[in-house]
Amino acid sequence: MASLQILHFVEDGQDAPAMPGRDREVGMQLKGADIVIESLKFHGVDLVFGYPGGTIMPVYDALYRSGFRHILARHEQGAAHAADGYARATGRTGVVLATSGPGATNLVTGLMTAYMDSVPLIAITGQVATSAIGTDAFQEADIYGITIPITKYNYLVKDVSKLAETFAEAFYIARSGRPGPVLIDIPKDVQLALAEYAPVAEADIPLLKYSPKPVYEYEAELDELVAMISRAERPVLYVGGGAIISEASEAVGRLARMAHIPVGHNPRGVVLTRDGRRLLVANRLEDTISVIDTRTDRVASTISLAGPKTVSVLRHGEQTFYTARQSFQGQIGCATCHIDSTFDGLTWDLEPDGFGRDIVDNKLLEGVKDTAPYKWNGGNPNIPTECGPRTEKYFWRSENYDNETLVDLSTFVRSLPPRPNRWRQPDGELTPAQERGNAIFTRSQDKFGNPIPETNRCVYCHSGPKGTNQKLFDVGTRKATDNGNLLKSAPLTNVALTAPYLHDGSARTMEEIWTVYNPEDRHGRTNDLTKDELNDLIEYLRTR
Ligand code: HEC
Ligand code: HEC
Repeated sequence: MASLQILHFVEDGQDAPAMPGRDREVGMQLKGADIVIESLKFHGVDLVFGYPGGTIMPVYDALYRSGFRHILARHEQGAAHAADGYARATGRTGVVLATSGPGATNLVTGLMTAYMDSVPLIAITGQVATSAIGTDAFQEADIYGITIPITKYNYLVKDVSKLAETFAEAFYIARSGRPGPVLIDIPKDVQLALAEYAPVAEADIPLLKYSPKPVYEYEAELDELVAMISRAERPVLYVGGGAIISEASEAVGRLARMAHIPVGHNPRGVVLTRDGRRLLVANRLEDTISVIDTRTDRVASTISLAGPKTVSVLRHGEQTFYTARQSFQGQIGCATCHIDSTFDGLTWDLEPDGFGRDIVDNKLLEGVKDTAPYKWNGGNPNIPTECGPRTEKYFWRSENYDNETLVDLSTFVRSLPPRPNRWRQPDGELTPAQERGNAIFTRSQDKFGNPIPETNRCVYCHSGPKGTNQKLFDVGTRKATDNGNLLKSAPLTNVALTAPYLHDGSARTMEEIWTVYNPEDRHGRTNDLTKDELNDLIEYLRTR
């Protein structure tokens, strides 16, 4: 670097480093490379990431003379990701420098990342001299063309007098609206050419083709969105960094609470120390933080968060539910299938009764208390037999739980309350459609005035607050793969959330229970119902 710098001064005919800075006269002649540095300073940058090379050398020389802070990566991709990380961590615009050809193309993954995650980033790449562009010159690549689909905007600057305004535009575009990466490709001769420099503020740029969309322009889409959420059976909010960038965390939280929509997010219970030497991982169920040495990947120490001295029954039960320690080679735990104590929406062939025999849909554990017997076929009389011998033998292939652990685990499972039901109105009243559905659910006559036998009425089998009379029936849903035909009247707790339906998960929707799997009216009288009436029935069932 030092020798290159001297060469450069000789070439410039200068004998001392120029001192571009705030005290410089406005309107002075500067080289393109110095305009780059002055523009970065003017737009508030004091740190850049990068990796040097031939065509970006003039900018590096200007950088060196300016005393600007530069973080030298070992590869351009690392520099791009680092600038992206810097932008995410500080909320400022990340800046990355690279040379032409392979240097520039090495930025691609980093640019794409910033593009997908809406991170404000400025990538400055050197380019072969304007006279050599398009000649397959040494280390030439059309980085402008290559990055069109993965940048918010990009430039190839051919005129040094356009540099200052190009930077103003680039910073504005990178930061405004939905932020993203902007690439500025600068041929080497443009970096060396002289031009008048006067700082250009973002506000001074008339951007005819670009204006971030104001919120009201989304109003039509918003109405549609509201309608979609209301229609959705199991909406989930998949919230990304955009909620933070747009300062919408508060509003997203309110939406989730109001509409009872669960929120998915990236786990953030992991933190790296500033020097990168230690990784801190929160152990929620242990009230501790593990300190992991990143060089050895081992737990170096454990920080106690001074949780309660004695582990309560529920805590121990919850720990047992989430741990995989019990199983052979620590492969699975209850939570593997019963994700977050619910269910995984899959059907399983669990027991050694022949391959493909007795396939069962996984079940919701919330509200499972007081619905014995358990399993679809009612084969387990209580929760300890369901949780203990079954899992030990068929899933864990390991030692049995000790008595205390099994009791604590069962107590935890019994304690799981049903989650709030978003189809129930706050005042407890039913909507007209739910009211009509309720009438079908409780009716004792079909539409032609024929009586429905008591034992074929929905309310008979699906009675009580949990929707089950806890007895076994043959409702005509037996499949060729089933060993028996008696099934427990299924609880209806939050039934809207538990698709697919029936013991083997064969009904993808509630409607199919009656339109496909109830041809003889053995599962309640439903064949006299119209599509609208079935919809009303479903509207009611959703409130259960
Ligand atoms: C391999 C996936 C899997 C694992 C692991 C698993 N379960 Fe299950 N669980 C199921 C399936 C599938 C059913 C439905 C079984 C049936 O009806 O025959 C079920 C049913 C249940 C039920 C009965 C629900 C009802 O309404 O009848 C309970 C309670 C239960 N599991 C608790 C547990 C506990 C506690 C653990 C950990 C010790 C566990 N499960 C591990 C898949 C799994
Ligand atoms: C004779 C008792 C009986 C009657 C009457 C009955 N059900 Fe069922 N219900 C069951 C049984 C048993 C199952 C489990 C069937 C299976 O899994 O194949 C079930 C399953 C269901 C399910 C699926 C639950 C799930 O999680 O997969 C719904 C929904 C349902 N019934 C609603 C109704 C409605 C609505 C009516 C009236 C039209 C009705 N049932 C009448 C016994 C009955």
